[in-house]
This record gives sequence, C-alpha cells and structure tokens, in this order.
Amino acid sequence: MIIAPSLLSANFLKLEEEIKNFEKAKDLWFHLDIMDGHFVPNLTFGPAVIKSLSQITKHKLDAHFMVTNPMDHVDWFKDMGIHNFTFHWETTHHHDRLIQKIKDFYPSVGISLNPSSSVDLIPDYILEEIDLVLIMSVNPGFGGQKFIEGSLDKVQQLNKRKKELKADFHIQVDGGVSHLNHKALIKAGATNLVAGSYIFGAKPQDYLKKVEAIRK
Ligand code: DX5
Ligand code: ZN
Repeated sequence: MIIAPSLLSANFLKLEEEIKNFEKAKDLWFHLDIMDGHFVPNLTFGPAVIKSLSQITKHKLDAHFMVTNPMDHVDWFKDMGIHNFTFHWETTHHHDRLIQKIKDFYPSVGISLNPSSSVDLIPDYILEEIDLVLIMSVNPGFGGQKFIEGSLDKVQQLNKRKKELKADFHIQVDGGVSHLNHKALIKAGATNLVAGSYIFGAKPQDYLKKVEAIRK
C-alpha cells in the first residue's frame, strides 16, 4: 500500500521542512499536482521547483499532470527524478503515442480519469501496458474538496477488470481521501492513496501518524 501526500496542501514557504517530516516513512510517494490554468482552473508549480525537490528526498516523485498538452510536458520534466508520470485521459486523442513517449523517459506511466469519465474508456490492452490508473474522487484543480461517493464504484469496476486481465497496475485514488473513506477504498481495490488536506491539516509532528492511519 502506497500513501502519497499531495504537496499542494503543504506550506510552500517551508517546502524543505515539510518534505523532511516524511523522511522515515516507507512506501511513500510525494504527489505533485502540476496544473496549467487551462485544463483546470488553477496554476501550481513547474520544472524548477520539482528539480529542487528531487534533490532533497529519496522518496519517489509522483507527478499528476492536469494540463491540456501533456506531450510537451514529457520533455520539459524529464531528467529530474520523476518516478511516475500521470496524464489525464481526457486531454489527448493519441493515448498510445503518449504512453510510448512517457515510457522512453519515466519508469512508470499513469492515466487519470475525471469523476465524469468511465473506467470503460480505457481499453484492455492499454490497462495491460501501464503502471497506474488514478481515479479522481473530486473535480481536479483544488485540494480540500469533498470526496465524491460514486468514486468507490469506479474503483470496484476497475479492480474487477484488473483481476480479469491479471494486470498489475496501481489503482490510485486522489481527492478527499481521509480516515472516513480509506477502509472502503482499500477494500474496493485501491493500492495507492493520495491525501493532501487530511495529512497537511495536522501538526507536522503528526504527519506520519496520519499517513499510517489511512494505510491500514
Ligand atoms: C486535486 C489534486 C489532488 C489534491 C488532493 O486536483 O489532484 O492531488 O491535492 O487534495 P485533498 O486530499 O485535500 O483532496
Ligand atoms: Zn493529484
């Protein structure tokens, strides 16, 4: 089980300190929300910030691209230690070409689905060649939103297909994840939970407790 604190909810004035608070954790990825103000109504951070972050942590970096032109971002963000590159299914007609390009530069490829996008949009052969599917459980753009309950069904549907295919991708859930829904999500098949406000809403000395609280 991977827990991925979303740095969107961290204190940007103390990013290095924020990251050091997780040094002792195992099976933890840092989730980086890259937003372009087009695909989603918000802007966050880019290559300069991520390159600096990659130099101060050994944890894997999980980049969630909420951008209209993910193909361009493959080049802009390569060679800065990003482990997983997730793009939104809704942003391209050329999914296969984009996946192959991501594979050239990143160890792991993810596909994200908006709340209104069905898991059936992704064909079997694509599920067999990627590493992660991100089920958005809020509309992308902001931290601290309420979990959309229908997301649980989508996790179940996706997990059923995963078992039928004997495929090996992570099922990641992102948005409104907390102590109120983690058990149901894990039972439904989630293997990777992103949490922003739930973790960073605590005092820094309690971040790791929050991480472990939603892992079980
Ligand atoms: C939302 C982002 C999420 C966000 C999650 O568009 O993709 O990663 O930071 O934050 P919480 O856990 O507060 O919903
Ligand atoms: Zn995200």
